[in-house]
Amino acid sequence: MARVFVTRQLPGSALDRLGAAHEVEVWPDRLPPPPAQLRAHAAQADGLLTLLTDRVDASLIEHSPKLKAIANYAVGYDNIDLAAAKARGIQVGNTPEVLTEATADLTFALLLAAARKLPEAIDAAKSGDWLTWEPARCLGAEVHGATLGIIGMGRIGRAVARRAGGFEMSVIHTGRDGGIPLSELLGQADFVSLHCPLTPQTHHLIDAHALAQMRPSAILINTARGPIVDQGALRQALIDGTIAGAALDVTDPEPPAQDDPLLFAPRLIVVPHIGSATRAARERMAELAVENLLAALAGLPMPHPIGS
Ligand code: GLV
Ligand code: GLV
Repeated sequence: MARVFVTRQLPGSALDRLGAAHEVEVWPDRLPPPPAQLRAHAAQADGLLTLLTDRVDASLIEHSPKLKAIANYAVGYDNIDLAAAKARGIQVGNTPEVLTEATADLTFALLLAAARKLPEAIDAAKSGDWLTWEPARCLGAEVHGATLGIIGMGRIGRAVARRAGGFEMSVIHTGRDGGIPLSELLGQADFVSLHCPLTPQTHHLIDAHALAQMRPSAILINTARGPIVDQGALRQALIDGTIAGAALDVTDPEPPAQDDPLLFAPRLIVVPHIGSATRAARERMAELAVENLLAALAGLPMPHPIGS
């Protein structure tokens, strides 16, 4: 029996399977274990099941002598120092594919909500500001036939592109696997949607310069990682009308402070990182993370290693 520390309660029954095979401790709180707690638990553990809110850095790895396996409950893994894990021969896995469609659905929900001004419309209906049918009320942008620019044409980017087909949108893309140059995409797209991982190359990829290249009628959607966007520059672009709107599922940091000026920018939608938040996706993610741990703790390769 190995010792496994799980940093949060997970939906579904996958953790029961883990608990049947190993000695499992689950952090009981709604908030993540504070760094000192995570370190203390990791120091005793053979396996870790972490969330994107848990920072697994080189120092934590160095002070966890027994650690053999880290299963991240996410497709992204920018919270883990992969080089440090690799140097120690620790296997690291993620939960790809099972959340692709859910995240693409949420991307489209945000795109449509921003294009058709749903927050403003919902407020109007609730606040008694629905006086009559008004010809020029809540005028939004056409989604049908518009041009969608996808930055990062991986699994999620391609799933978003498939949905765009149903709206007869023209899809253009840029990313590691080719496509058109970023500046061309920014100049042509009515909607720009981010689906690249957070890396040193994509940090603040969307900065003031990039925002200035977008069309004044364009809308930015980010369901990838907050730091890909320079939020100060985004706020200014919304205030100045450099772009028409933005919808964010991710911010930097998460959550933003309640008085973060970004939250009060005009024509901005923010939701609390719910891209993969369907019951089915979150249960399947738990299964994949548990499969990764069970394999690695049995001395086998993880079925879903990072990068697969
Ligand atoms: C969520 O953001 C994930 O990476 O799964
Ligand atoms: C995530 O699964 C991606 O590759 O886009």
